[in-house]
Amino acid sequence: MIYHKPVLLKEVIGYLKPKENKEYIDVTAGGGGHTLELLKKKARVLAIDRDPEAIEYIKKNQYKFLSSGNLVLVKQNFANLAEIAKNWNFKKNNGILFDLGVSSWQLENETRGFSFDKSGPLDMRMDPELGICAKDIINNFNERRLYEVFKTYGQEKFSRTIARAICRARQVKTIETTAELSLIVKEVYQKRNIRSKLHPATKTFLALRIVVNSELLNLEKCLPQTVDLLKKGGRLVIVSFQSLEDVIVKRFFKQEKKMKVLTKKPIVPDILEILKNPRARSAKLRVAERI
Ligand SMILES: C[S@@+](CC[C@H](N)C(=O)[O-])C[C@H]1O[C@@H](n2cnc3c(N)ncnc32)[C@H](O)[C@@H]1O
Repeated sequence: MIYHKPVLLKEVIGYLKPKENKEYIDVTAGGGGHTLELLKKKARVLAIDRDPEAIEYIKKNQYKFLSSGNLVLVKQNFANLAEIAKNWNFKKNNGILFDLGVSSWQLENETRGFSFDKSGPLDMRMDPELGICAKDIINNFNERRLYEVFKTYGQEKFSRTIARAICRARQVKTIETTAELSLIVKEVYQKRNIRSKLHPATKTFLALRIVVNSELLNLEKCLPQTVDLLKKGGRLVIVSFQSLEDVIVKRFFKQEKKMKVLTKKPIVPDILEILKNPRARSAKLRVAERI
């Protein structure tokens, strides 16, 4: 499995202040990087991920913590956080961590279909049991709906043209792979002679991933559930990687009267971290405390 470097690790742990026998929930366990730091401080951790491969990976690598009882691992969608926490008796926690988005493992593994520069099936499901994958959307949504997906969730300037090009291409044959989709989008950009620092398919792929996994909806459902799962002084620590997520987090922090915001401005990685881990470049960390 490809190693996922935890983002803003020092800052996240600085805010969570893990202590022996205190309880924490990591709702996006991924490769277990943040979870491991909490466990090293002898904290108790409920680690959740909807991806069974992430759960298996942590199970193998952090077995000693599982057997000591300090780590509880659950394959679930964090949208059901209150129920999961109740089932596992993590009712009053010192901290809850969200590290949103996908892990390096998911991105780099071509069989998962997340990446525009790795050829694989057009899948993009974090949880393979999900009913709908990216291929279903690309081949079945009508032009108008495709346009709306790219516009709303990818903020893609050429949403209309891309949606049209996809509909034209799929009349010839079903679009099956990330490489096929990536090429269709690239050609739209090339025809318009647009040069950008980002790969042309970046926003199209992001939009699809958000829709396949209902990422924004899950975040909106989960955030209000965190409040009563935190003890007084407990902290909600959220790392997001794209503006639509950050907007939801900011709005929640502003509206929730039982939480005090500790980060007026988001904390971002320093240049050294970005050089070591370019994926960290768009990370924003926001923290609020239960009052
Ligand atoms: C950026 S990675 C987390 C990396 C982790 N903090 C680490 O240091 O290794 C995000 C993880 O969140 C998981 N995830 C995203 N949305 C989820 C949801 N709604 N429920 C549970 N897990 C989710 C993904 O499957 C992925 O493994």
